[in-house]
Amino acid sequence: MSADGADLTFDPFAPGPRDQLPAIFAELRERAPIYHTTSDIWVVSRFDDVKSVQSRPELFSSRPNPYEGQAETNPEINPEVLEQLLALAAGIPVDMAELASARSIAAADPPQHTRMRRIVSRGFGPRRIEEMAVAIKAITDRCLAGIEAESSFDLVERLAIPLPVEMICHILGIDGSQYTQVKSWSDAFAAVAGGDISDPAERHQLMLRTIKEFSTFFVPLIEERRKNPQSDLVSAMVRAIDDEALSNVETLMMAVTIMVAGNETSTNLIGNTVVELLSNPEQLALLLDDPSLLPNAVEEANRTTAPIQFAFREATDDTELAGTKIPKGAIIALHMAAANRDPRCFEDPDSFLITRPAVKNLSFGYGIHYCLGAHLAGQEVRAAVGRLLPHLGKLELAGAPLERNPSVLLNGWQRVELAWV
Ligand code: HEM
Repeated sequence: MSADGADLTFDPFAPGPRDQLPAIFAELRERAPIYHTTSDIWVVSRFDDVKSVQSRPELFSSRPNPYEGQAETNPEINPEVLEQLLALAAGIPVDMAELASARSIAAADPPQHTRMRRIVSRGFGPRRIEEMAVAIKAITDRCLAGIEAESSFDLVERLAIPLPVEMICHILGIDGSQYTQVKSWSDAFAAVAGGDISDPAERHQLMLRTIKEFSTFFVPLIEERRKNPQSDLVSAMVRAIDDEALSNVETLMMAVTIMVAGNETSTNLIGNTVVELLSNPEQLALLLDDPSLLPNAVEEANRTTAPIQFAFREATDDTELAGTKIPKGAIIALHMAAANRDPRCFEDPDSFLITRPAVKNLSFGYGIHYCLGAHLAGQEVRAAVGRLLPHLGKLELAGAPLERNPSVLLNGWQRVELAWV
């Protein structure tokens, strides 16, 4: 083994078996903290280096981040497919030129990002979050009603999927009858953004079909809120304050971003927290003894499991990072999952310890793109795990072995089957 890590091979899109990742991350951090992959991605794995990139958006642009929800142009598409795509696009009730050039907040840089964030933050203020707590509790109680009478249940299907999707509907002001539909649009947008579909024609078709369905449903709602504002996020986004408001396309994109960024991530953190607690009985015992440790337990599960494993940036100029030269245009993977286990910041970093001193981990990002839904996600997960807590001592993981989601970007369990002991 060479000391500079030249013999290491790592690819964030093919990282290797999950149970070996902590050891792989340690090698990266110690021997190749700025690692250049054979596919030309620069992987940053130390805590301070990840934070340093996130702190300098002028030098490290967010434009390679997906969550776009937009159709990229692809010269490879054959005329027949192009015809189908144009036919699909024809019925979309927004300006297609604006849609094609629009950026999601996650992929925008200042000053565009600053303006979008200022407007969207109106809908995520403390009063809104407080009000959300009531809705979160009601959904959690309804989803878990009757579990005592069942021999086992899948936590993911029962609560971890519906809670975030229902809350996103609640925030956007979408009627309760549309939850199933919203979840399927959200999954379709996530599949396109997450690169799950390799055939470009298929990807474009799914993208346009979903945009068409969603916008046909959602644009009238935007128009309605523009005329008759309510207390929801859409009204907050389209209401002009100091002459600032989002356009229909920007509001549509924001809704898509929230659906993609807020659904599977929160679903995964609910499942991950419960699995971590049940897999670490001594930590569960501490929590049962002192339920005020619940926020720490959720934060610790967020640290160790990093529901979003990495995010991208692009160098806007030639630069240097931790002594390594990085060329202009370089695509950089900020590996939050690896950074969260950096022993320079976290003692005994691979252990799940709910009493560890509070050091902010990077699972919600850092800097100007810090997760807009972090408070909401935190409340959802605390409510879900808190509601289960009185039962957790009497529940065990069933249906083993647990199966992970196939995504390498989003870390979570497909099912978390719980059975009464
Ligand atoms: C456990 C759940 C979640 C995790 C782990 C998570 C993680 C993240 C991370 C790491 C980023 C920053 C990405 C970057 O720096 O490039 C981010 C941004 C974002 N998240 Fe979350 N997220 C979660 C839940 C949510 C929820 C519930 C919502 C909304 C309802 C949401 C909305 C957003 C938005 C809009 C952004 C972009 C913010 C910006 O660019 O200014 N997220 N999230």
